[in-house]
Amino acid sequence: MLPIEIDQNETFQLGETTLTPSYRKDLRQFTEKEYNKFVKINTISDWSQLSWKDVGKPYEVKSFAKEKKDWEKEHDRSLPIHTSWQMFNKSFHEWFVKDVPSELDERKQQFLKSLTSFKPKEIKEAVGDFARIHLWNYAHRVEDGIWDPRGKRALFEGLDVQKPKILFLGAAEGYEAMQIAALYPGSEIVMVDYDPYCKDTRYADFPDEYPFLGFNPNTSSYKTYHKQDFPTTYLVDDIRNLSFGKEFDIVLSVGLLEHFPDEMKPEVVEWHRKFVKPSGYMILTTPRAQLKSKLYYKVMADVMNHTYRELMTLEQMGLYLYENGANIIKSGFIKVHNGIIAKVR
Ligand SMILES: C[S@@+](CC[C@H](N)C(=O)[O-])C[C@H]1O[C@@H](n2cnc3c(N)ncnc32)[C@H](O)[C@@H]1O
Repeated sequence: MLPIEIDQNETFQLGETTLTPSYRKDLRQFTEKEYNKFVKINTISDWSQLSWKDVGKPYEVKSFAKEKKDWEKEHDRSLPIHTSWQMFNKSFHEWFVKDVPSELDERKQQFLKSLTSFKPKEIKEAVGDFARIHLWNYAHRVEDGIWDPRGKRALFEGLDVQKPKILFLGAAEGYEAMQIAALYPGSEIVMVDYDPYCKDTRYADFPDEYPFLGFNPNTSSYKTYHKQDFPTTYLVDDIRNLSFGKEFDIVLSVGLLEHFPDEMKPEVVEWHRKFVKPSGYMILTTPRAQLKSKLYYKVMADVMNHTYRELMTLEQMGLYLYENGANIIKSGFIKVHNGIIAKVR
C-alpha cells in the first residue's frame, strides 16, 4: 500500500468520509470485503462467444418526466433531443445542489400537513416529493452511488498512460474525467457537451472543495486533488462537429450509449473510436439493468427521464462495443453502472 500524504487543506483526512448537506466526500479505500461487494471486474472471459440470442436486448425505461409529457402535449410532437437534454441537465443539477437534510425536514412537514387537507391529489404529491428526497438522500449522499468514487477508481486504475489527454464526450459536470486526472497526474482534459448549461452551471458550480483521491508521482503517495488542479478545456458543441484527430489517450463517456436506440449505437461507438490514439483507451459506463435501478428511474422519472433511456447488462453493453470494433480489455460493474475499458481492434 502506498503511503498517504496528509493534505493540510482538508478539514478531514485521507481514509475518512464525511457528509456535506449535498454530497459525500470520501477519501476511503475499500476494505477487501467492501471491494468484493461493490466491484466485480472481468466476469466475462471471451466476448466473441456472446450473441444477442444469449444476452437479450436492454430494458427501455418508459416512465417519463411530466415536463417532457407536458411539452409534447402542448406542441403535439416529440420533444427535440437537444431540448430534452437541456431539461434533464437543469433538473438533475437542481438535485445535486439541494440542502438535503433541510429538504427532508421540509418534505416531512409538507406531507404531514397534506394529510390534514384530506385532498387525495395534495397527499399524493406530498408523498411523491417525500419519497424522491429520501431516495436521493440514500442514492447520492448515503450510498454515493452516482459519483461512486471508490468504484470508479477501481475501474479506472491500472491504465498504461502517462500524462494522458482525456476527451470526455457528453461531459455534463465532468466528474469522471476529473477522477481519472487525479489517478494519472499531468492529465489534460477536454470536456464536450452541447448543452451550454453543463459548462456554465453544472461544471462551473461543481464544488471546488470536493476532494478527488489520486496519486502524487513525485512522492509516490496518495494525494487529494480538486477541480481547479486539472487543466480543462470545456467545449460547448455537438460531438458530431468535433474536428480532432486520433489524438487522445483516453476517450470517455458516462451515461451516453444507453440514450441511443440500436440503429444509432454504431455511430456512438464510432464517436469514441474516432478520436482515440491507436494505443489509447475507450472508457464507457452505462446504468445497470438491476431491479433497484428500474425502481429508481420510476420514482425519479420527473427528475431524470426526459430522454430515450435503456438499462443494460454488462454483456449487452460489451456486445455493442465488441460488434462495433472494440476489444474489451477490462469490464465490470460498480454500484449502479457497468463499466468497460476497450481498445480499437
Ligand atoms: C446523461 S448525460 C451524462 C450523465 C452525466 N454523468 C450526468 O450526471 O448527467 C449525457 C450528456 O451528453 C450530452 N450530449 C448528448 N448528446 C450529445 C451530442 N451529440 N453532443 C454533445 N453532447 C451531447 C447531454 O447534453 C448530456 O449532458
